[in-house]
Amino acid sequence: MIKDIFERIKNTPGPLGQYQGMGDGYFMFPRLVGEVGPEMEFNGKKVLNWSLNNYLGLANHPEVRKTDAEAAAMYGLGAPMGARMMSGNTDLHIKFENDFAEFIGKPAGLVMNFGYQGMISIIDCLAGRNDVIVYDSEAHACILDGMRLSLAKRYAYRHNDMESLEKQLNHACKLADQQGGGVLVITEGVYGMAGDLGHLDEIVKFKEKYPFRILIDDAHGLGTMGAHGRGTAEHYGVTDQIDVIFDAFAKSMGSIGGVVNSEREIIDHLRFNMRSQTYAKSLPLPLVVGNMKRLELIKTHPEYREHLWTIVNALQDGFRKEGFNMGCTESPVTPIYFEGGINEGTNVVVDLRENYGIFCSLVTYPVIPKGQLMLRIIPTACHTLEHVERTIEVFKEVKKKLDAGVYSASPLQNMNVFTRAMNSNVK
Ligand SMILES: Cc1ncc(COP(=O)(O)O)c(C=O)c1O
Repeated sequence: MIKDIFERIKNTPGPLGQYQGMGDGYFMFPRLVGEVGPEMEFNGKKVLNWSLNNYLGLANHPEVRKTDAEAAAMYGLGAPMGARMMSGNTDLHIKFENDFAEFIGKPAGLVMNFGYQGMISIIDCLAGRNDVIVYDSEAHACILDGMRLSLAKRYAYRHNDMESLEKQLNHACKLADQQGGGVLVITEGVYGMAGDLGHLDEIVKFKEKYPFRILIDDAHGLGTMGAHGRGTAEHYGVTDQIDVIFDAFAKSMGSIGGVVNSEREIIDHLRFNMRSQTYAKSLPLPLVVGNMKRLELIKTHPEYREHLWTIVNALQDGFRKEGFNMGCTESPVTPIYFEGGINEGTNVVVDLRENYGIFCSLVTYPVIPKGQLMLRIIPTACHTLEHVERTIEVFKEVKKKLDAGVYSASPLQNMNVFTRAMNSNVK
């Protein structure tokens, strides 16, 4: 019997959609109002905001705003029209690519219209039917989706576990040998949820034993890691051994788009074969010009990164001193782990937002193990030491309440605040 596909869809809200009745507009799709930065408004109240990946504060930097506005006025948002390969190429796209490649330390680069689609498409394009991918089990969704699209076989290694990586490299090399293909290892530079780093220094050592190429997604490493903000490969001093580096502009650059850097022939292959770019419009000129400005600021203002790290170190040292569990972070991403279930998680977040004026994101199972909660804090160069002190004091109080069982009741007791958020949803 044929069913109405809409009927099935309406009855299957999905893992997050099932909470729509309670959290839509509050936990999911919250609307932060005001100038992008640490002090914004949520659900009618001022909050100290720790949830934007605006690491260097460039999203709202006055020079960036001016450049973005002038470029939009000069070119319009549509220009150039068409895909790069057809009618959407410009001198500025090429200049930006060359400048970015020089900054990263690779011979060539290709700018892309979106990070997520870009990464998917890089994987699809690089790994063919006879190739084998070996990837970290906690890889970002864009890496998983890229592998779903690619015809290559794949093996996952346990997150950052080098013994497991070697085991999978062994399997992968045998299979690639039988099939006449190659091996591509994929990891992130900085893991954006937990803040730990892909162990690039250890991974590249396996190149002495196994023939593979490595692609890294350094969306969170660009601008934050390395002496010049060139990313996680610079941090480990292994840029030459990382074959392909992907960066997204949505984090430290506070913008949209992405870029892939590698040797010239690989970039040329991507230029002619990457379906997400061949069959889609190129990055609009105002974004190219705006991103050039951001790159210039990253290069010429190391003090933004230095201040970011002053805030990161104060925050993480402060939490550590108070005995909070931050897992294995080595980057600005600051996860605070607690024991608890969904009741505790939702009640903690409501208390933080409504009574303490602190906005951060809650991460629960299945992203992290059952029985654990994570409050994810993203420090930026716009935060101050006063923000840090205030937040640590609040977290100390919240932890005491959590340990005393104050947050165990059903989150439905907070229905009034959810309703306020939901009622103000624009339909
Ligand atoms: C690790 C990682 N890769 C890729 C992306 C996608 O980038 P974009 O938001 O530019 O599409 C993100 C951002 O969410 C990310 O965190």
